[in-house]
Amino acid sequence: MNTEEPVYHKHIFVCTNQRKEGAARLSCGEAHGLELVSAFKEHLKNKPAELRVRAQKAGCLDICDFGPTVAVYPDGVFYVNVQPEDVPEIVHEHILNNRPVQRLLLTRSSTKLQ
Ligand code: FES
Repeated sequence: MNTEEPVYHKHIFVCTNQRKEGAARLSCGEAHGLELVSAFKEHLKNKPAELRVRAQKAGCLDICDFGPTVAVYPDGVFYVNVQPEDVPEIVHEHILNNRPVQRLLLTRSSTKLQ
């Protein structure tokens, strides 16, 4: 790896934030964020050795109302309402073949982000 290459070809951030009990907003951690991290790690075990990918826990990505939320960089793609059964498709389509999974994408029109 030379210094101009990214450390990771794909870096997957899975929100595992967990708010205090009784908080007004739901958080991704309560909605299986840690389960998603494990699923990504499991499904990445058979990736090509030359593809540098990391999946890890992340704090709140501030898209809580649409969680569980997953971000993939350097693409800047955000997935929302991700379920464990969606992980194989994200890995196969996006991580291995650079085709983001359209049905799970966060769109600006679905949030207050402008
Ligand atoms: S708690 Fe997951 S995005 Fe905020």
